[in-house]
Amino acid sequence: MKTALRRIQLSAPWIDERDEELVLEVLRSGWLSLGPAGPRFEEAFARAVGAPHCAAVSSGTAGLHLSIRLAGVGPGDEVITSPYSFVASANCAIYEGATPVFADVDPRTFNLDPAAVEAAVTPRTKAVVAVDIYGYPCELDELRAICDRHGLALIEDACEALGARYKGEPLGSHGHLAVWAFYPNKQMTTGEGGAVTTSSERQWRELVSLRNQGRADSGGWLEHARLGFNYRLDDVSAALGLGQVEKLDQILVLRGQVAARYAELLAAVDGVEAPLADDADHERSWFVYVVTLDRGIDRERVIAGLEERGVASARYLPSIHLQPYMRERYGFREGMCPVSEDLSARTFALPFHTRLAADDQEYAVEALAASLQVA
Ligand SMILES: Cc1ncc(COP(=O)(O)O)c(C=O)c1O
Repeated sequence: MKTALRRIQLSAPWIDERDEELVLEVLRSGWLSLGPAGPRFEEAFARAVGAPHCAAVSSGTAGLHLSIRLAGVGPGDEVITSPYSFVASANCAIYEGATPVFADVDPRTFNLDPAAVEAAVTPRTKAVVAVDIYGYPCELDELRAICDRHGLALIEDACEALGARYKGEPLGSHGHLAVWAFYPNKQMTTGEGGAVTTSSERQWRELVSLRNQGRADSGGWLEHARLGFNYRLDDVSAALGLGQVEKLDQILVLRGQVAARYAELLAAVDGVEAPLADDADHERSWFVYVVTLDRGIDRERVIAGLEERGVASARYLPSIHLQPYMRERYGFREGMCPVSEDLSARTFALPFHTRLAADDQEYAVEALAASLQVA
């Protein structure tokens, strides 16, 4: 008799009874949008990241778009960002008619190389969208200094980095606009959802208006002070978010333990490098577990080997400038960002989530070692 193939999925949210209770409360109240759950979630989230203000929105992408709006980015402007990221961090510039300019990344951290950012600044540059990729904090001080020197807005795409710290302080507490995302593979989830945090009350008021069709505090439901969007987070999602924030500390500890277990297991496997360890200035929050293959190893064969053994994996992350629509629109080609392109060819994600069992991790790493033998 054939035994069923063991299957280890790439990611999974952790939803518990408290989350169910909070969501049910909202459903039973009948107040499904613009009710009390929204502000309750925003307050709890702001507290969790040490930000004075938080505006919840319908997705991380929506949060990035609004942040680009706040930065006054428009047609003809350039926005410098990372090629080694999820497409939303570049798309937000295009939504407002600006051109994304890709500065290469640091091969150690996979985040924007400040020297490459400095070199990419032109008289048209309006903003820098800095990404904390895979939860590893980017070089905030250096990037902020460049932005200050050239009069640019700094927007932090912290969508993958909830709980991370830069120079001892949580991301979100450093003053500038920071954007968060709560898709179910993230550290915490609201289903779909996101948030923008800031130390500026003026920015927060503008965000709250822009996400709600440009309505102003003072006006009525059908009075619109500015061109806005429907980027609201509904109350059911906000209630789930509240439950998730309540256990965020526990989530972060458990994810840290899963990552530490992988690092231990992978130390015995040749041909693959574990993610960069923390240092005094950078404390990662674990979003995904992305490993780097040595040059010369056939990634496709490794991924096929994992698949055969029931272990999910994903090619994280393709370089954004080489996506079909980017090539077509801007004529971007290979060789523009060699570090990012090299990483894109060699990195991939192993199964990773808050409650990933130790024996599943052992099985995944055994499967990886076996796949590497024939790659
Ligand atoms: C770096 C980064 N930016 C932006 C986003 C967009 O978030 P959302 O999917 O909520 O729109 C994501 C989500 O995967 C992301 O990883």
